[in-house]
Amino acid sequence: MIHVDKLTKYYGDYAAVRDVSFDVPAGKIVGFLGPNGAGKSTTMRVLTGYLTATSGKATIAGLDVFWDSVEVRRRIGYMAENCPLYKEMRVNEYLKFRAGLKGVYGRLRRQRIDFVLERCWLNDVRRQLIGTLSKGYRQRVGLADALLASPPVLILDEPTSGLDPTQIRSSRELIRELGQEHTILLSTHILSEVEMTCDSAIIINRGRVVAADSLENLARRAGEKESLIAVFDHAIDPDLVLDLPGCDRVISEQVAVGTRLRFPSPDVQTLAPRLATLAGEKGWGLRELRPERPTLEDLFVEITEQE
Ligand SMILES: Nc1ncnc2c1ncn2[C@@H]1O[C@H](COP(=O)(O)OP(=O)(O)OP(=O)(O)O)[C@@H](O)[C@H]1O
Ligand SMILES: [Mg+2]
Repeated sequence: MIHVDKLTKYYGDYAAVRDVSFDVPAGKIVGFLGPNGAGKSTTMRVLTGYLTATSGKATIAGLDVFWDSVEVRRRIGYMAENCPLYKEMRVNEYLKFRAGLKGVYGRLRRQRIDFVLERCWLNDVRRQLIGTLSKGYRQRVGLADALLASPPVLILDEPTSGLDPTQIRSSRELIRELGQEHTILLSTHILSEVEMTCDSAIIINRGRVVAADSLENLARRAGEKESLIAVFDHAIDPDLVLDLPGCDRVISEQVAVGTRLRFPSPDVQTLAPRLATLAGEKGWGLRELRPERPTLEDLFVEITEQE
């Protein structure tokens, strides 16, 4: 349904998106996952016709997002990152205005507005000024707007950012439900969000796609190789262990007790005893030393921390 081919976007001489290609099949919910600044919003703005690509091509339902942008916009509901809403309008007035822009009038308009108000839990605030709504409610207005014309494709840029835990849970349920009728591309920098709502994920880092697969395959790929976990009750400079035999790379994390080191692809038999000896010599209290099958989260951290 969404087809992206070698898309590149420069801001001045900075390449925010480089040679990005992916597909979102009809009827699927696909997560667009990446850390801050990865290029998620830029890609989505190109797909929705708000930015033009420097090179490459994207189509939605077979229509070119640049050459057929009017037709493309009819087929997508876009919820932007910082939903630009008219603060001095009331929720129902705003939706009425937006429906008009999307060519939805008359009885259908009333029906659609009632439906999205209900669907996005906005009935209680339908007469409230948008400027006086909390962030979570504004997000819902953004989503309601995206759903107004009942488009086959939804492009949602961080739909749950800024929501409280209860709202996050209900939004996820809503997105899953919407996935039964719409093709959805949703961006987030939170892996668990993708695990809970999406069929597959595209991981983007520094403007490039670094992985794209179903969640099962990504998790399987992550768990293929054992890593070694070591926890010390000291602050440790990870450079001090890099030279140990059997050590290829190390990812260090401060934890409550001290430092947690993860060696993503070690020679465990060689490294583990050498690490224990070094810890003894240096007086770093070794709390834990064990091999582990990495999770999807480890894979994500590893991918996004690589240069
Ligand atoms: N209008 C702009 N002019 C110049 N640089 C920009 C512009 N918009 C974005 N960038 C840069 O492009 C890169 C990608 O930005 P983008 O907003 O697409 O990232 P993102 O993945 O959506 O990040 P976040 O998770 O923080 O929303 C960033 O380094 C950003 O600073
Ligand atoms: Mg963004």
